[in-house]
Amino acid sequence: MLSIRPTETDDASQVAACVDSVAREKLFLGNTKGFSPEQTREFIQFVKSADGVHLVALDSEAVVGWCDITPQTYEGLTHAGRLGMGLLPKYRGQGWGTKLVTEALSIAFNTGLERIELEVFASNVGAIKLYRNFGFREEGRKRKARKLDGVYDDIVLFGLLREERLR
Ligand SMILES: CC(C)(COP(=O)(O)OP(=O)(O)OC[C@H]1O[C@@H](n2cnc3c(N)ncnc32)[C@H](O)[C@@H]1OP(=O)(O)O)[C@@H](O)C(=O)NCCC(=O)NCCS
Repeated sequence: MLSIRPTETDDASQVAACVDSVAREKLFLGNTKGFSPEQTREFIQFVKSADGVHLVALDSEAVVGWCDITPQTYEGLTHAGRLGMGLLPKYRGQGWGTKLVTEALSIAFNTGLERIELEVFASNVGAIKLYRNFGFREEGRKRKARKLDGVYDDIVLFGLLREERLR
C-alpha cells in the first residue's frame, strides 16, 4: 500500500534516484539520465515557490514515484503548468498513477492554474490512456521527434483546461 504526500526538499536524493531509474529505462522520459540530488532539490524548491505541485508516492519511507506540475514563468503563460510523472516498474498498473494525477490536478486547479500541458512519446500507450481518462486532449504531434538507438518516436502534445477535467 502506497501513500502520496507533498514532496519535501529533504526527499531530493530519493526523488533524484527515482527519476534517474525511470530515465535510464530510455522509454518514457525525454532524458535518459536523471538529475543530481542538488539539482533536484533546487527544482523542488522552485516548484514550491512558483505555487506548483510536487508529490511523491511512498512505499513505507521509500520514494517510488512522483508527479510534478511546474507553472510556466513568462508573463501571460503563468496560468499554465507542465506535468511530469513516473513510477518505478513494480508499482505501475495498479492505479497509483491515477491517484497521483488526481491529487496533483486538484491542487493545481485549486491554486489557480487553468491549463495543464505535457508531452508524451507516442509509444507510451499506458501514459496516454491515463491522460485521456482525465480529459487531456491531443493538441499536436512532433513527428519523429526522438531518434534513440536508431528508433524513431513521435512526441504527442496534450493539454487539459480546468473546465474539461473528467476525473
Ligand atoms: C505512466 C504511469 C505514470 C501510469 O501510472 P500507472 O499507475 O501505471 O497507471 P494506472 O494504473 O493508474 O492506469 C491508468 C490507466 O492507464 C491504463 N494503463 C496503464 N498502463 C497501461 C499499459 N501499459 N498499456 C495500456 N494501458 C495501460 C490503465 O488500464 C488505466 O486505464 P483504465 O482506468 O481506463 O483501465 C506509469 O505507468 C509509469 O510510471 N510509466 C513510466 C514513466 C512514464 O511513462 N511517465 C510519463 C511520461 S509522459
